[in-house]
Amino acid sequence: MSAPHTPGRQDGGPADPADPVLRLDGTGWSVGGATIVQDITLSVREGEFLAFIGPNGAGKTSLFNLISGLTLPTAGTIALDGADITDRPAHLRARRGIGRTFQTSSLWPAMTVDDHVRLAAQAARGGSYRLWRRADPFTADVAGVLERTGLGHRARATAAELSHGEKRKLELAVLLVGEPRLMLLDEPMAGVSAEEVPALTELIRTLHREEGRTVLMVEHHMDVLLGLADRLAVMHHGRLLALDTPEAVTADPTVQQAYLGEGL
Ligand SMILES: Nc1ncnc2c1ncn2[C@@H]1O[C@H](COP(=O)(O)OP(=O)(O)O)[C@@H](O)[C@H]1O
Ligand SMILES: [Mg+2]
Repeated sequence: MSAPHTPGRQDGGPADPADPVLRLDGTGWSVGGATIVQDITLSVREGEFLAFIGPNGAGKTSLFNLISGLTLPTAGTIALDGADITDRPAHLRARRGIGRTFQTSSLWPAMTVDDHVRLAAQAARGGSYRLWRRADPFTADVAGVLERTGLGHRARATAAELSHGEKRKLELAVLLVGEPRLMLLDEPMAGVSAEEVPALTELIRTLHREEGRTVLMVEHHMDVLLGLADRLAVMHHGRLLALDTPEAVTADPTVQQAYLGEGL
């Protein structure tokens, strides 16, 4: 079991343990006259696993963009460990421990698995691409991340040669070298074959339970979520329709109504 992750505050003093890791207050995002995310208020405690479900277009990815800083909210606030990060750009949020994966693949097809991870490790240390080429490090952390994600034996394969499940593992490996303590996973099972889902689920469970990371995850596979999530958030038309334990949410008549015919 790895050491638990300590709060990585870049400024100010240590986090108050009473503060949630993440707090959204009335957070919203409008673009081109359309309101995509509206009035989201929620708190995430250290070590929690919060899953997001909701139909396509509900605003789940847009919400992750707001939390990771890819876009800035047009309403409300976002706080990390009690510190306001509403206007902080993505790279500063990453430095403070927020890491994310993307719904669609973010890999370079012709680049090898270990090059992906080494480049990510170099970027996480603040190094330049040119220095990385010159120093060509294959450090223990890179090897360790490949082992932990089950990709050790695929280190020399190119991303294009990987199965869908392996690609998703590589995206997690790239994320892990930055040692995020708050991970945002946007549909990590998308495109993965049924045979590969259990191993990927197990990897995500390990990152959460054994490595102590806080996880926010968008996922459509309810069977996967029910075994992982402490709470389920249901998004609908940019709003939070429900936020509770998986049992309570799936029994909620409002949720069932919103999902009628959508397979919940
Ligand atoms: N940059 C943008 N400009 C305009 N509309 C956007 C933009 N990004 C997302 N949207 C719209 O916001 C809605 C929510 O999208 P998204 O957050 O991707 O939903 P989900 O991840 O729940 O499927 C969709 O209708 C989408 O078309
Ligand atoms: Mg999405």
